[in-house]
Amino acid sequence: MSSANSNAHDPQSLARLAADVAVTAGERIFELRARGVSVSASKSSEVDIVTEADRESERLIVEALLAARPDDGVLGEEGAGVEGTSGITWVVDPIDGTVNYFYDLPAYTVSIAATVPDASASADGRRAIAGAVFNPRTGELFDAWEGGGSRLNGSPITISGKRELATALVATGFGYTVERRIEQAEALTRVLPLVRDIRRIGSAAYDLCNFAAGRLDAYYERGLQPWDFAAGLLIAREAGAAAVGRDEDTAPGTPFLFAADPALVEQLRSAVLGD
Ligand code: IPD
Repeated sequence: MSSANSNAHDPQSLARLAADVAVTAGERIFELRARGVSVSASKSSEVDIVTEADRESERLIVEALLAARPDDGVLGEEGAGVEGTSGITWVVDPIDGTVNYFYDLPAYTVSIAATVPDASASADGRRAIAGAVFNPRTGELFDAWEGGGSRLNGSPITISGKRELATALVATGFGYTVERRIEQAEALTRVLPLVRDIRRIGSAAYDLCNFAAGRLDAYYERGLQPWDFAAGLLIAREAGAAAVGRDEDTAPGTPFLFAADPALVEQLRSAVLGD
């Protein structure tokens, strides 16, 4: 596994560390999946599950990151919260697409991003400067660092460049509470008639990476958590995407995240919000 000087913020080394750790954790959850899945808890609702593999993956990731960079902080979906002193906080989703993992659908990922404080970059006040997303079922490793472009298994990727909403393939996702799903269903009735089609793949990190690789033309979702989008948003931006929030004054993030070609993103936002 790569190691890096704890106080060095070289984005390329951070991306290499994120990728190494994501692959190690991904291989572990893949191995655990073969033995069956045990659901250990539910979170925001009965259908929002946590598996033993989520917890083990997060433990492994936190240990590996802090072994390499002991002064960094970590924020993880399953509760990891380590305050650092270096200025870097790792934002970690140990399994993004837990429901797919539960059903053994091949669209779950490990997502790891190195972030710095920046209120203008995302609604949670952080900017990812390096990140990696690994799908252990397909062996796809996406990575990016700020200013360095995005890659899929080492080869550069770019967004599709689609500029017309009517022929755009748009991905989205849904939260786990009834109230949130009612709003999301209403938004879907506005946008579905205006686009080529909608995809709901089940892992926001993977959606953003597939969009970055030109396999989808746009992506939006309401209610994502920082770990769902931190690495994927960087990978999409470095592949040429523009990302916006609810309106001109808000950064993309939990309230709303729209990502598309710079010439398409405003049309997408208007279609979803019905402005
Ligand atoms: C979920 C997935 C899903 C998205 C949900 C997320 P989880 O994350 O990313 O695609 O639509 O909003 O909560 O629960 O599988 O880590």
